[in-house]
Amino acid sequence: MSTPLLSVEDLTVSVEVGGKRLTALDGISFSLQEGEARGLVGESGSGKSLTLRAIMGLLPAGARVDSGAIFFEGRDLLADGADYQRQVRGTGITMIFQEPGVALNPVMRVGEQIYDSLMQHRNLSKKEAREYAIHLMELVGIRDAATRLNAYPFQLSGGLRQRVMIAAGVACSPKLILCDEPTTALDVTVQAQILGLFANLRDELDAGLLYVTHDLAVVAQMCDSLTVLYSGKVMESAGSMRSVFATPRHPYTEALLDATPRIEGPVGRLRAIPGMAPSVVDRPEGCPFSPRCAYATHDCRVGDIPQLNVGAEWTAACLHPVSQMSLEPKAANA
Ligand SMILES: Nc1ncnc2c1ncn2[C@@H]1O[C@H](COP(=O)(O)OP(=O)(O)O)[C@@H](O)[C@H]1O
Ligand SMILES: [Mg+2]
Repeated sequence: MSTPLLSVEDLTVSVEVGGKRLTALDGISFSLQEGEARGLVGESGSGKSLTLRAIMGLLPAGARVDSGAIFFEGRDLLADGADYQRQVRGTGITMIFQEPGVALNPVMRVGEQIYDSLMQHRNLSKKEAREYAIHLMELVGIRDAATRLNAYPFQLSGGLRQRVMIAAGVACSPKLILCDEPTTALDVTVQAQILGLFANLRDELDAGLLYVTHDLAVVAQMCDSLTVLYSGKVMESAGSMRSVFATPRHPYTEALLDATPRIEGPVGRLRAIPGMAPSVVDRPEGCPFSPRCAYATHDCRVGDIPQLNVGAEWTAACLHPVSQMSLEPKAANA
């Protein structure tokens, strides 16, 4: 197999809470091939944003990588030091945040924010950068790009601001796009448009995509593969989105699916997951999902839960994986 575009290996990150160091990400592993889109899902607090920030080298104050490795095109981002990481951030990896307000400079015209990034990374003249900025704005579906170039962020709607941020984010032709719930703050129609936009960008740029969301319905549309996080651990990871949707193996994945509206599923069967996800301070022993899991036994509440190999590129950290039935041949009388 070729070298993955991105490989996160046994990544452990701790945070400081009330003077104590607590494990927030506990041995996260997954990889992404060139051109692949992987969904990273889990409830709020499961460690999605910290994972993306660790890859970008933008961990918040108080958070640090304790162990593990992050390889980008085969090079260890952590071992190669801060300089390499800074360089990679501009040209190889880009991150698109949930709140465009945070990433856009309020006192700078949006066009400048796009072509600033272009001039830095591509060695273009101002005129060339301006033209390319217009092209990018059109690519992300902004009409009247030549006029809108001169607008300030506050003069644009939330949907347009998000598009501008995406245009700025992809201006350097990244090989890897990290998205942190980029549509959560938008209304449903705009959300659908932005999702369509990512599909187009993927085709155009042939970039890898790591797409973070709490919404499985979104990743089902967008992504080829899936990694499910819970309480800072990988619960299930599958190379095929379709397979894991059809036969989830981890009860947490199953529970998330049961709580997700499905196009072809029966209406009115949505079940919320009972209870709350634990925070870093009150993570239970054993499988962190065990207190909320319908299948949990005593063994689930003690010690480490190993990753079970379900199939090729498919693992589940569970002692009692579900959907075993589907391993049997379908109805004999069919
Ligand atoms: N800067 C920080 N200081 C202390 N705890 C943090 C910090 N950032 C994140 N955490 C904790 O780490 C866990 C994972 O957070 P995060 O990655 O933001 O989750 P998600 O993006 O999946 O909602 C949470 O329990 C959160 O409270
Ligand atoms: Mg988050």
